[in-house]
Amino acid sequence: MTSTLDLRGEDFLGDPQGVLRGLREADWFAETAMGPAILRYDEVRALLSSWSLRTPGVDFLAAQGITDGPVVEAVRGFLLSADGDDHQRVRRSVGKAFTVRRVEDFRCLAGDLADELVAGLGKRAGQGAGTTRNEGPGSGLGSGPGNGPGGGPGSGVESGGGFDFVEGFAQPFALGALCRFVGIPEDVRREVGEWTADVGLVFGLGVAEHVPRIEAALENLHGFIDDLLDQRRRSPQDDLLSALVDQSLTEAELRSLVITLLSAGHGSVRHQLGNAMAAFLAHPDQWRLLAADPSLAEQAAEEVVRHSPSALLGLPRVVKEDIRVNGTTFAAGSWVLPVTGSANRDAAVYDEPDRLDITVARTAHLTYGGGIHYCLGAALARVELQEALPRLAAAMPDVRADGPAKWLPPNEVGYGPLSLPLRTP
Ligand code: HEM
Repeated sequence: MTSTLDLRGEDFLGDPQGVLRGLREADWFAETAMGPAILRYDEVRALLSSWSLRTPGVDFLAAQGITDGPVVEAVRGFLLSADGDDHQRVRRSVGKAFTVRRVEDFRCLAGDLADELVAGLGKRAGQGAGTTRNEGPGSGLGSGPGNGPGGGPGSGVESGGGFDFVEGFAQPFALGALCRFVGIPEDVRREVGEWTADVGLVFGLGVAEHVPRIEAALENLHGFIDDLLDQRRRSPQDDLLSALVDQSLTEAELRSLVITLLSAGHGSVRHQLGNAMAAFLAHPDQWRLLAADPSLAEQAAEEVVRHSPSALLGLPRVVKEDIRVNGTTFAAGSWVLPVTGSANRDAAVYDEPDRLDITVARTAHLTYGGGIHYCLGAALARVELQEALPRLAAAMPDVRADGPAKWLPPNEVGYGPLSLPLRTP
């Protein structure tokens, strides 16, 4: 008999990876209220790139009883909802602006932002109760080799202070880096962050209760983005927006794309940084290795995304035509959930899958999805993580948890800590 997975159950919410492990070891899929959750690496990878499946788009809202209105119209226009030729055309146009070169050119700015924020963490920690100031070279935390790849102002977090990692680093870094890359002016970033976080609620399981909030955010974003795109047409800058207005996209496609980029690229990185920090707290030996050797950054950025993904469940898929997997038929019209966070811990593919190990090259993880919808921002997310993590490790190699973290419940896309109290000893 097939096992069941209750995505809203206490067990799953309390220990998602523990529950997934038990189910995955028993079988390659488990039934959920939305359809079968696919749990093992080979099957998840195959299904993500299968032409017989599509993303649910507005069906995801319909399944939650929302069938019309501005939220439905917005989701209908998202790149993630498009299929076939429509998707290919938009993705090709975006690809001409969102190039590997542009992302690599951004690396330095991402590093500078990480340096600034790490320096700010030092001040926060310094304000904590019982702070003892360590002065002079080699006198305490942050005296590790190089103090981060840039050796910039982010060197060293003072001893004895407590701070919240999400508020102090993950959130401002994720939002600041994305806004700089896209070209959102500094004075409106906070509002844009709030609006896009609200729009991101469309990917959750409780959309109905958030409709008024999402509608208000969409209205604000529409006016704001239209104005900004006009400005870029008149006076181009060195940013993604200016490159996007040159592509053959309609006004509606452009606007929708900018909303998608901002919504998809903000919370995902914030949660991923929080998850990374939580994973390293549980594997302090790996954190110290990264602190001592920033050349491990690339591998570290992959391993945390495999081990503790912010997209724990991945994106559901709808079956377009009957498909048979391991002798089981999934009928046209039904849903499947390729659970990438489970596939990434499949012991048939990864040695000691529950262990975070930044020293070995692992099989490619599936957190960024697969097939035509493979994360458009994966290269940017990688650069952000590669620049942030070694700086943080070098500045606070002995950091520890300062009380329990508060977690967002794992929904179908985003998963990560809402707050993560840390302390430097
Ligand atoms: C650690 C950070 C990130 C994670 C874990 C993540 C994860 C994902 C996942 C799971 C998908 C769906 C793939 C599929 O189902 O096959 C996706 C799609 C997408 N992501 Fe990301 N993402 C991240 C960062 C970003 C960033 C920084 C941006 C933009 C700047 C971005 C933009 C997008 C877009 C536009 C899509 C839709 C692509 C399409 O439909 O063709 N993501 N991402």
